[in-house]
Amino acid sequence: MKSYKIAVIPGDGTGPEVVREGLKVLQEASQKYGFKTETVNFDFGGARYLKTKETLPDSAIGEFKKFDAMFLGAIGHPDVKPGILEKGILLRLRFDLDQYINLRPIQLFDERFCPLKNKKPEDIDFTVVRENSEGLYKGLGEFKDKGTPNEVAIQISHNTRKGVERCLRYAFEFTQKYGKKKQLTLCGKTNVLTFAWDLWERTFNELAKEYKDVQTNYTHVDATTMWFVKNPEWFDVIVTDNMFGDIITDLGAMIQGGMGIAAGGNINPKGVSMFEPIGGSAPKYTGKNVINPLAAICAMAMLLRQVGEAKAAQMIETSVKTIVKTKLKDLAAGKMGYSTTEVGDLVVKNL
Ligand code: IPM
Ligand code: MN
Repeated sequence: MKSYKIAVIPGDGTGPEVVREGLKVLQEASQKYGFKTETVNFDFGGARYLKTKETLPDSAIGEFKKFDAMFLGAIGHPDVKPGILEKGILLRLRFDLDQYINLRPIQLFDERFCPLKNKKPEDIDFTVVRENSEGLYKGLGEFKDKGTPNEVAIQISHNTRKGVERCLRYAFEFTQKYGKKKQLTLCGKTNVLTFAWDLWERTFNELAKEYKDVQTNYTHVDATTMWFVKNPEWFDVIVTDNMFGDIITDLGAMIQGGMGIAAGGNINPKGVSMFEPIGGSAPKYTGKNVINPLAAICAMAMLLRQVGEAKAAQMIETSVKTIVKTKLKDLAAGKMGYSTTEVGDLVVKNL
């Protein structure tokens, strides 16, 4: 029997509550589909940082490399200054484990939960491939004359040919394999950011010749946000850089029904990948058993697809879809008509 080792970081706020439901679904899926899992918990997050002043020990990176996949709840604590945990844990994991793709499916399960008028599930069903290791997130830059009237703050977007090419290749191959229309859109800003996006566009056009079965096009990032609202049905797979990908996927989460349902994967195709609900720690709802666990459950489905359990992944997604359609009053925390644990139970029962 196949067996998978999964590192679990429940993290902060509502992270542990949604992780629990994700693991519940994993447990049931593993029995149904005949595979084994071994999970190991790690306590990285705000609470640990406040106690120890340590975000992530260096040894953790080597430790995580021994796993088949990672499952993350949320990182972020109201008592910790913004940036410390994000950079020290989440971004550090993405960078040091070279999870250079951030894969974010945008799928509407039920039109009742779409804030856009007259959009149906078939209209909102695409995927954003976000570069996850470079760009503005590289953290390059400097202050000049800090604190003076002449202060200058420089923040550099760092793009390498290798980094851009591996991301684009992943996107082309993902489109070949999963794209409904076999259509890949490059989302950038070639009209203003003429260094970075020249490299991206040149590389994109070169690769397009190798992937002749993929239809390609280009949109500026500002226009992309407009199309997300006006004509989301135009998209199949979108590839973009780290910063633009961060921004457009929050908008994507909203048109698919909100953070309660939005999942993502930080992927190293040749290493260990980490799956997470993209919503954050939601301190307001912590401990109340009202947060929506479906994003975490969908992240678990993505994890299973990545390790090779496509059938189990598909069944979890189908179960989630059914629950959303037939049971839930709303996808927002506290408004679902069910508690966090009850929603997890419903998904399990429907598998
Ligand atoms: C995300 C988050 C992170 C990001 C933050 C928490 C650093 O917004 O996963 O989209 O900017 O990538
Ligand atoms: Mn974000």
